[in-house]
Amino acid sequence: LKKPVRISITGAAGQIGYNIIFRIANGDLLGKDQPIILQLLEASNKKSQKAIKGVIMEIEDCIFPLLVDVSVHENPITAFKDANIAILIGSFPRKSNMERSELLAINSSIFIEQGKALNSVASRDVKVLVVGNPVNTNTYITMKSAPDLSYKNFTAMLRLDHNRAIAKLASKLNEPVSSIKKVFVWGNHSLSMYPDYRYATVNGVLIRDMINNNSFWNKNVFLPAISRRGEEIISIRGASSAASAASAAIDHIKDWIFGTENWVTMGIPSDGSYNVPKDIIFGFPVKIKNSKYKIIQNLEIDKFSRKKINLSIEELKNEILSISHLIR
Ligand code: NAI
Repeated sequence: LKKPVRISITGAAGQIGYNIIFRIANGDLLGKDQPIILQLLEASNKKSQKAIKGVIMEIEDCIFPLLVDVSVHENPITAFKDANIAILIGSFPRKSNMERSELLAINSSIFIEQGKALNSVASRDVKVLVVGNPVNTNTYITMKSAPDLSYKNFTAMLRLDHNRAIAKLASKLNEPVSSIKKVFVWGNHSLSMYPDYRYATVNGVLIRDMINNNSFWNKNVFLPAISRRGEEIISIRGASSAASAASAAIDHIKDWIFGTENWVTMGIPSDGSYNVPKDIIFGFPVKIKNSKYKIIQNLEIDKFSRKKINLSIEELKNEILSISHLIR
């Protein structure tokens, strides 16, 4: 039998946690022959610790054959011990009267602590996926707080935006989602994101050549639809996307581990490609082989794209500036 893989999940009793845990325990992430151990971290307050116990009761009742062990934690040092995969979902939610800088400051304390814990106890090749918002900067903080781990271990989730872009194109063209290739999303997981289908194809044909008034549709329909999809779901469902976010997290980690020839979007520390300042966590198009991602190079950056990409860069530089005194 294979050695169990240790998966740490934070915010495990939250909406996304409740959607991702059962899929992972069922083998949707690592396959039906890979035993797993779940190490679940929740906030230390009574309500969260009580809620996670209820989740554990349900996990037990699912009698998942692949699940070797599951434990609950309120301290990241025990939650991340020997973790092979860490999914950082738990974060402090934005309150209506809160400035973005306040939100960043509160979250930075969570992600500094978790970065330090990963640094001291996680497996040296731990794959970290941060989901909690503001996700790019939370990932940056986590990475900077873990100086003994490679920057390549840290990624941010832009996969939901990527999947939303594919869904939108598939429905526009009335084609199956699996036939859409080479779509991706640049930048920050915020309104400044830039979903880019200039290179995208369906059955080998360039999608931009198939859309009437392509440039108008791109700017006025496609881009706002993708960047505002999250808000739209909140207003219709009455709660933020959870099942689709969990599904995107599984897609992200699965591709990272098993590789993909398709272009996919990962939030990763910039290596300076496309003039994105080094180390900023940015959505890039990547391919993955042997569990190593590679940024797709030599894509043309036209004037419109440059402007969009620069908007995300500026936003992220400001986010980092507002918390940089906390992580030195
Ligand atoms: P939720 O509020 O239902 O759950 C969050 C959970 O995290 C709660 O159970 C809370 O107790 C826990 N938590 C808070 N602080 C913690 C800490 N220090 N350690 C461990 N656990 C902690 O929220 P939901 O809907 O599950 O979303 C989670 C995060 O994911 C939010 O920040 C949300 O904005 C973000 N998100 C990101 C997406 C992306 O595309 N990157 C998509 C959808 C959501």
